Amino acid sequence: MSPDQIRALVRTIPDHPRPGIMFRDVTTLLLDPAGLAAAIDQLAETVTHKPDLVAGIDARGFVVGTGLALRLGCGLLLVRKDGKLPGETIAEDYALEYGTDRLAMHVDACAPGQKVLIADDLLATGGTALAAARLVRRAGAEVAGARFLVDLPDLGGSAALRAEGIDTASLME
Ligand code: PRP
Ligand code: HPA
Repeated sequence: MSPDQIRALVRTIPDHPRPGIMFRDVTTLLLDPAGLAAAIDQLAETVTHKPDLVAGIDARGFVVGTGLALRLGCGLLLVRKDGKLPGETIAEDYALEYGTDRLAMHVDACAPGQKVLIADDLLATGGTALAAARLVRRAGAEVAGARFLVDLPDLGGSAALRAEGIDTASLME
């Protein structure tokens, strides 16, 4: 499937969740069997060095993260909205395009020296992915990169991640 065909499967919903926001909705891409497989395969092809773990970010990042982990032969680390994980956690606050939130990770989910690839459906301001990167680094592990189905470059996230030294790639802008 060509990049244009994959892109055409992402739907745009105007004024969600607030007026003025053009929401790029990947659920329509996920519904398409060929689109889902091609998106995960092509995103996995951008990963040149196999990480130890893929960190999927709550909630749609779990889908992308699971696909990449299976495709790359890695384990999956869940970075969750705070208050959901049962074990001892570390947490990071971050600002969203529309609000603030807090992400948490089990403190023992990754170990010093491990390489962790961050995965999410979409990169906007980068606040979410950078919070996940801080969690991985606080645990002593290395951020091996970050991968997204969609990058909204005007919102500055990819520039912010690269400024932090994070190898960043997406399937489409
Ligand atoms: C969306 C998206 C990313 C984040 C991107 O998640 O899935 O995680 O926002 O925005 P940023 O780059 O500006 O941080 P959302 O917080 O809506 O959570 P959800 O996946 O639970 O719907
Ligand atoms: N789509 C999905 N998630 C998002 C968006 C969007 O356009 N902007 C910020 N998070």
